[in-house]
Amino acid sequence: MTVPELVIRPERDADVPAIGAVIDAAFEGQPYAEGDEAELVVKLREAGMLTASLVAEIGGSVVGQIAFSPAEPPDGTSGWYALGPVAVLPAHQNRGIGARLVRAGLDAIQALGAKGCILTGDVNYYARFGFRLSPAHCPPGQPPGHFMILVLCGASPEGAIRFHPAFGDCA
Ligand SMILES: CC(C)(COP(=O)(O)OP(=O)(O)OC[C@H]1O[C@@H](n2cnc3c(N)ncnc32)[C@H](O)[C@@H]1OP(=O)(O)O)[C@@H](O)C(=O)NCCC(=O)NCCS
Repeated sequence: MTVPELVIRPERDADVPAIGAVIDAAFEGQPYAEGDEAELVVKLREAGMLTASLVAEIGGSVVGQIAFSPAEPPDGTSGWYALGPVAVLPAHQNRGIGARLVRAGLDAIQALGAKGCILTGDVNYYARFGFRLSPAHCPPGQPPGHFMILVLCGASPEGAIRFHPAFGDCA
């Protein structure tokens, strides 16, 4: 689906309040929401760990956002990233905006030389981007039935690939 007026671009300082509002609105009422998804992005930004943060903008308003942060394989290999959260305002969902954010975000980390990406999420949704379940890489405390990886370059490392500590239990 095409949304002609949609712009995907890196976040700017002025977007920060709108990003928090979009994340809160998108996750509100979701059974898997912890209520701290917007705070996670704030923590990553403050820690300098927001490797990529893209917004979806329509008519000057932020309607979606996606975040990527460094992830850590056990052997210390660099180049692995975590996707999340990703959020689209409820009124704009199911128009392909989430998919545009995911694909643009993966392009952004690939431009940084990414070797791979991890996430926890809905298997049916993320499979379309090439993510596959990988319980063998699931870190302690995360749900193996929702932990997915996408190998972008080379081989996948052995063992659990950890999220940044800012994720706590809300990856
Ligand atoms: C998940 C989300 C970012 C997708 O954005 P979107 O713009 O609606 O997605 P797209 O239009 O690209 O894709 C729509 C597809 O996603 C599915 N989808 C929407 N929300 C979903 C969700 N929470 N979990 C799984 N699938 C979801 C739709 O059923 C649709 O599936 P189909 O293509 O097979 O019909 C958006 O629905 C959202 O913000 N949800 C609440 C927050 C959230 O759950 N974030 C992800 C956490 S892992």
